[in-house]
Amino acid sequence: MKAIAIANQKGGCGKTTTTINLGAALAKNGKRVIVIDLDPQAHASFALRKDDRSLDISAYNVLTEKPEKKRSFESCIVHISPGFDILPSNAQLSTLEQELITREDAVSVLRKALSSCHSYDYTLIDCPPSLGFLTFNALRAADWVIIPIDMSPFTLVGVGKLLGMIDLVEKKTGRAPQVSALATLFDKRTKYSQSILDEIGSFFGDGLFQTVIRHNVALKRAVSEGTSVISFDPTSNGARDHMMLADEIMRCEQYVPVSKQNESESGNDAKEVTFIIEAPEASEIYLVGEFNDWVADEGSRLQHAENGFWEKRMELPPGTYRYKFLVDGEWSIDHRNQNVESNEFGSFDSIIRI
Ligand SMILES: Nc1ncnc2c1ncn2[C@@H]1O[C@H](COP(=O)(O)OP(=O)(O)OP(=O)(O)O)[C@@H](O)[C@H]1O
Ligand SMILES: [Mg+2]
Repeated sequence: MKAIAIANQKGGCGKTTTTINLGAALAKNGKRVIVIDLDPQAHASFALRKDDRSLDISAYNVLTEKPEKKRSFESCIVHISPGFDILPSNAQLSTLEQELITREDAVSVLRKALSSCHSYDYTLIDCPPSLGFLTFNALRAADWVIIPIDMSPFTLVGVGKLLGMIDLVEKKTGRAPQVSALATLFDKRTKYSQSILDEIGSFFGDGLFQTVIRHNVALKRAVSEGTSVISFDPTSNGARDHMMLADEIMRCEQYVPVSKQNESESGNDAKEVTFIIEAPEASEIYLVGEFNDWVADEGSRLQHAENGFWEKRMELPPGTYRYKFLVDGEWSIDHRNQNVESNEFGSFDSIIRI
């Protein structure tokens, strides 16, 4: 199960829209998905509502300690469509922080609750527009944080605080979620959309999804119909963009660097690892990291394989190594490897453990 938190303290940047439509798109691809609505505003619950009843049962009942309110995770789930469920929210969720204030592990209650939830491929957590207790719980539970960033002036102001909170999670737990930015509400007719997209690109580098979510009215209309845009209008730009995003996410998941025991060296535990990158336009690529002192030379150059792929085989002794590709002079993490950690330069390295 992969837990993905969709977070940004900026209101209205597309967190809920991303959560529900990415969820529906992953489910459409045969994945088992649950949305955790962790926002007391309950917008995701409303957007995927089955009927107009306000919800008495919510994530609060799973996370509370009060015996009279406590419910099992399974009993609070609402089924939306085949392979697509939601753990809904309601306003009571905003009281959880006060209730758990004396508990030392208060910021880990969601992570603990999710640890028993194995029947899903993806858990998507819709965060509230703040960097408080609920968002911290989501970051603590997440393997991956997606930051939707809308195309408005000063949109990156505040993202640094979220990244700081993610660093804090790493310091406290020794475990950092992967971080990716997603450009949302892109409108090619407005003159600053492209310049803001460029700004986000230079800030996040490889951490920006190639998929861009365009401004599309079908996304709003689907909400008023209580369904995802994938069901509401599968041919709309909104549906296409979220299907592309799901595709990009599933592609990132498929790959882990291939490693196998090197039989010719059976006396030690070295493993042969094949690193692969798809870069049809590139003219030279190096694989550099802690295993070769970050040196780009003939020994670290990748070979051209078929269909725009490049590869490099290396024999690595047991250990944990940070690494990156250097593609025509530009740094790139290994997009096929979900293990990434932030580095001292404010960007990210891929990590491989032998
Ligand atoms: N790509 C888009 N095209 C058109 N409308 C959009 C798009 N993305 C989001 N919206 C609309 O913008 C509004 C805010 O989006 P959304 O609720 O997803 O943001 P949010 O970040 O979850 O907000 P909040 O911070 O309040 O939780 C909604 O009315 C939504 O329908
Ligand atoms: Mg929201």
